[in-house]
Amino acid sequence: MSQLLLLNGPNLGILGRREPEIYGTDTLADIEAAVAEEVAPRGWKVTAVQHESEGQLIEAVQDSYDTVGAIVNPGALMIAGWSLRDALAAYPRPFVEVHLSNVWARESFRHESVLAPLAAGVIVGLGALGYRLAARALLATVPLD
Ligand code: DQA
Repeated sequence: MSQLLLLNGPNLGILGRREPEIYGTDTLADIEAAVAEEVAPRGWKVTAVQHESEGQLIEAVQDSYDTVGAIVNPGALMIAGWSLRDALAAYPRPFVEVHLSNVWARESFRHESVLAPLAAGVIVGLGALGYRLAARALLATVPLD
C-alpha cells in the first residue's frame, strides 16, 4: 500500500481555534481527512504527522523514505528551519510546500522559505483547499505504481 506523508509543523495542531481569521476554521483532522479523500482513488493512504519541534519533524522525514511523496506545511520553520531543509534535501521523493495564509501578504519575515527551493511546488493563500490541491499535484506528477 502506497503512503503519502502529510507533515505539519509547529502550531498547526491547533488549527480551527488558531487565529481563524487568518488560518480558517478547518481543524487539522479535517485537513487530514480531505487529503485522504483526494488520494484514496489512487489507493494511497496518508501518514499524517504533526510536531511542535523541528527534531521530531526531521525524524518523521527520515522514517518516510518509502512514501510516494509529501505535503509539507512547515509553519514558521519555513523561515529558518535549516535542519528540516537538510532532511527534505535527503528525502528521495517530491514534496509540495503548503501555507494556508498568503505569506507574501503578511509580515516581511514570512517572505522567505528555506524549503521552497527544494519543493516540487508551493501553494500559499488558499486555506485548507491548498492541501487538496497539493494532493492533486502529487497525484498528477508521481508516476503510476
Ligand atoms: C503558515 C504560515 C507561517 O508563516 C506561520 O508561521 C504558520 C502557518 C501557514 O500555513 O499559513 O505557522 O505556515
